[in-house]
Amino acid sequence: MAFIEVSCVSKTLTTNRGVRHVLNDVTLSVDQGEFVSIVGFMGCGKSTLLSIIAGLTLPDAGEVRLGGELVRGVRSKTAIVFQNYSLLPWLTALENVHLAVASALPTWTRERQATQARAYIGKVGLANAAHRRPSRLSGGMRQRVAIARALATEPDVLFLDDPFGALDALTRANLQQELAQLCSAEKRPVTTIMITNSVDEALLLSDRIVPMTHGKDALHSRSHVVESLTASVRRPRRPQLKPLRIGDVGLTAVRLRARGASAGQVPNRGGA
Ligand SMILES: Nc1ncnc2c1ncn2[C@@H]1O[C@H](COP(=O)(O)OP(=O)(O)OP(=O)(O)O)[C@@H](O)[C@H]1O
Ligand SMILES: [Mg+2]
Repeated sequence: MAFIEVSCVSKTLTTNRGVRHVLNDVTLSVDQGEFVSIVGFMGCGKSTLLSIIAGLTLPDAGEVRLGGELVRGVRSKTAIVFQNYSLLPWLTALENVHLAVASALPTWTRERQATQARAYIGKVGLANAAHRRPSRLSGGMRQRVAIARALATEPDVLFLDDPFGALDALTRANLQQELAQLCSAEKRPVTTIMITNSVDEALLLSDRIVPMTHGKDALHSRSHVVESLTASVRRPRRPQLKPLRIGDVGLTAVRLRARGASAGQVPNRGGA
């Protein structure tokens, strides 16, 4: 059994325009330590699926198991990064991270918790802005705090809902590299599911890409996982500006190269 098992999950939501079958029989398996990206059309149900996997929303049918246990709420050792930062506005950047550390790692001493919070604020390059409240941070800085807050809790599972979607291209590229380094720098395996609208981003960061699409019945916006694509390049990676067509889904992305590989050499994952 895979570490995360999503089995036949369905979800129907009711709006003032009627009933929407958002998820229909979605099945997905994620191995421990795997980084899986979900890409798909706007409104096809990616966030709904992620919030069910994370235990924030209950499915109407089907089940999610994490480490063999049925998901019935947000599990400890799990961190979530939302698209809209979700920082507490009355706390500084450092206090936001510190609060998360204190709540996720309550057995640690106060001093160790404070050191951990400072270390992660530093890792995302915000040491000089640690004492600013979110209203005095740029969007990119807020998202850095959200990522620091998630990783500082030392999760073994990370859920990212389009974490860089609202950022400019340069900040986005920087944060992608930082996330890749922070994830791969951890000695423990961090199992990650990330939603993204960027195929390049998915290829850069993930072991496997899972496209989600609307079904034939567009009126009901049914969605399902159609297939998954395995990125064969070892992580961490860096992009090369060369167009590449991926599978049958008609998407174009940049060719990727593993760090340290010379041009033209694309080693398999787990290879040299
Ligand atoms: N609380 C809700 N009540 C009713 N309908 C909802 C609710 N949340 C989402 N929906 C609808 O369910 C569908 C799927 O929403 P969801 O947010 O999961 O899509 P998404 O794939 O994450 O979209 P995006 O790419 O824009 O983030 C959308 O049509 C949305 O309008
Ligand atoms: Mg969404």
